[in-house]
Amino acid sequence: MTESTKTATLTIDGQTYELPVHSPTLGPDVIDIRKLYAQAGVFTYDPGFTSTASCDSTITYIDGDKGELLHRGYTIDELAGKSHYLEVCYLLLYGTLPTAAELENFEGTITRHTMIHEQMHNFFRGFRRDAHPMATMVGVVGAMSAFYQDSSDIADPRQREIASHRMIAKMPTIAAMAYKYSIGQPFVYPRNDLDYASNFLHMCFSVPAEEYVVDPILARAMDRIFTLHADHEQNASTSTVRLASSSGANPFACIAAGIACLWGPSHGGANQACLEMLKEIGTPDRIPEFIARAKDKEDPFRLMGFGHRVYKNFDPRATVMKQSADEVLDLLGVENNPILQVAKELEAAALADPYFADKKLFPNVDFYSGIILEAMGLPTSMFTPIFAVSRTVGWISQWKEQFEDPQQKIGRPRQLYLGETEREYVDVENR
Ligand code: SDX
Repeated sequence: MTESTKTATLTIDGQTYELPVHSPTLGPDVIDIRKLYAQAGVFTYDPGFTSTASCDSTITYIDGDKGELLHRGYTIDELAGKSHYLEVCYLLLYGTLPTAAELENFEGTITRHTMIHEQMHNFFRGFRRDAHPMATMVGVVGAMSAFYQDSSDIADPRQREIASHRMIAKMPTIAAMAYKYSIGQPFVYPRNDLDYASNFLHMCFSVPAEEYVVDPILARAMDRIFTLHADHEQNASTSTVRLASSSGANPFACIAAGIACLWGPSHGGANQACLEMLKEIGTPDRIPEFIARAKDKEDPFRLMGFGHRVYKNFDPRATVMKQSADEVLDLLGVENNPILQVAKELEAAALADPYFADKKLFPNVDFYSGIILEAMGLPTSMFTPIFAVSRTVGWISQWKEQFEDPQQKIGRPRQLYLGETEREYVDVENR
């Protein structure tokens, strides 16, 4: 961060304070309030962090008004169209696009870390078969620190790198195992002759009784879904990972915390909730009823897959996902998918409604992804685990960046206390 010449003036009770203002490469200036409490004895107040920059970062930039998303300066449209997930992983982790040799070496490394310790298989058997795969993933990923102690000394850069590679490599295996366990089928080991997305589909859909050949259309669609969900600046789950990491917790525990946060329906759980909503709507004639419910202040119902804290325009990922949904369903010969029809008509109706237009509510990344995933044969319960698989590289890249930032310290927000002032204890017989 370059030393700032700009300042902001704050006057409280007749006292004036000059606060440094820092300018970014892209995006709004920030007012540096790190010394505010020491100087003025006041906190700032920002529940939900709608106007707060929690860190500086060089990984991802979002322009919410324009609906733009950059990873290390490259647009998500270009990356989704020209790159592939493991190359985007390299870009997020190391900051530059790899040479052919670097990419081959990186992909070889990830491929050879895809198996998990054989004893970890026992963890799955401790869960009920009907456990949500996200519950299993939180548990199994959290337990990884018990098996990979040789890469949990975060002070060692090489161990940080090995832990990063292990996380990226093993998440698809763990997610696929959670799925297999939930349907009572045997676990399928990864194969080193398959690319990342094909391997994941193989581990999900292959059975010992017959050969499973990965459909390249599905593999390409899966890879694109992984690419579109890889990182997204300081969203709720990434902020969770950063906060957990700020105490020095090991990377596996931090990623488990991120998975737990992503699970919520306001965040990564929205892709599952969105498809369930589209199925509940069922036919286009019921769309007005659901639009009315979404607008009704008395009704907690919200349109799943719509709205975003940052995007006040189209989520660029939703645009790519919508194109992909059309392509995949067409290539799979899924004629006139009724759910896709409902989604398109719901989108058109919402965008034409002043309520959504005025509040700048547009489809987000979760609006169309479930339609593709369901067409690929995956149950709704696997939608958020797939989001978690993809977002692991974002979490781990942001974890690494934070750990290597000399400015970082343990995250410890304050509060606006509205509770009781001090009072005497009264014995129970006198209450
Ligand atoms: C993800 O942060 C990220 O980057 C997340 C993510 C990522 O890649 O990491 O992009 C992934 O989480 C995408 C979002 C998935 N969630 C959903 O699709 C769930 C439905 N969306 C909403 O719950 C909501 O839009 C949020 C949670 C996404 C954003 O909420 P905000 O920014 O806190 O906005 P808000 O709740 O203050 O809403 C502003 C207004 C409110 O009305 P008023 O009180 O001002 O009258 O818009 C309304 C809300 O009621 N509103 C909606 C709505 N979303 C917001 N009304 C109906 N349906 C919706 N979907």
